[in-house]
Amino acid sequence: MIVTTKQLFEQAYGKYALGAYNINNAEQTMGLFKGNMDSKAPFIIQISKGARAYTNKLMLEGIIRAADQIFPDAVFAVHLDHGDEATCYDCIDSGFYSSVMIDASHESFDENIAITKRVVDKAHAKGISVEAELGQLGGVEEDISVSEDQAHLTDPNQAAEFIKRSGCDSLACAIGTSHGAFKFSGGQGLHFEVVEAIQKLVPGYPLVLHGSSSVPQDEVARINAAGGALKGAKGVDANQYLPAAKLGVCKINIDTDGRLVWTRVYREFFRDKPEVFDFRPMGKVFMEEYAKFIASRNELLGSAGHLDEVRAALKK
Ligand code: G3H
Ligand code: 13P
Ligand code: ZN
Repeated sequence: MIVTTKQLFEQAYGKYALGAYNINNAEQTMGLFKGNMDSKAPFIIQISKGARAYTNKLMLEGIIRAADQIFPDAVFAVHLDHGDEATCYDCIDSGFYSSVMIDASHESFDENIAITKRVVDKAHAKGISVEAELGQLGGVEEDISVSEDQAHLTDPNQAAEFIKRSGCDSLACAIGTSHGAFKFSGGQGLHFEVVEAIQKLVPGYPLVLHGSSSVPQDEVARINAAGGALKGAKGVDANQYLPAAKLGVCKINIDTDGRLVWTRVYREFFRDKPEVFDFRPMGKVFMEEYAKFIASRNELLGSAGHLDEVRAALKK
């Protein structure tokens, strides 16, 4: 059942965070749905511009619609990750997406508000939720690369003004995370005081954390032992997900960790079974391992076990 992120946030606020997981192909989608069903969690599927272009946006849509039939009990939102204005409109018009992110965080404050408001007006007319971003994370996303000195934390006063003027349904704020597998190269930590300050100004408003992969060190070690070169990879402490959720973070974005599961499975498979050239045995291992990973994240996010209650509330 496809629902909006707004509906999911109303259920989760202050109790747990929804896992927002990026997908690019059928194996990832199967693992994702299985992991969420095994842990009985509602969830958010994220589709980036890169994912839409990888095979074809219609291919991904078809895969997700099929997964919805294969797992009829699943409750999830279909969300555009880091959209520009044109891609947001394409998703809004598609009739498939229930949520879009307009990321104009690289624009000036006023321009970010103006662009976000235009997207909000079009999305809300069709019952679609909108996430916006204020502040800048470090790292690389799509074609934009932000160095650590360019990255800056969200200003809470600006956040409150931004929410009021743009009408967005949730806000991604920069609190010290960055995209990718190499976070915190300067050793800096997370700034939960920014989340607390925003919540004081706009109580009850759902916030979003990008760049939240934990980059498990055992995963990195296994990848490197199987021929990888991910020296110094580091992520967010996954034990901070739930405390963040209790402060009003309703959506936690995890993409890189899934790529690490994929890399570990395939590198180990090729190392250990050099004679195999059928991609299905390794694809099967990946789907199982990704499902286990998703279930383990949902436990840490606190979303595990909430599926039945959310379905009942949203079916009313
Ligand atoms: O923030 C970016 C997400 O991890 C998606 O990555 O643009 O390479 O699909 P991608
Ligand atoms: P990670 O790179 O930490 O997985 O972040 C993903 C993300 O924020 C997608 O929007
Ligand atoms: Zn992101």
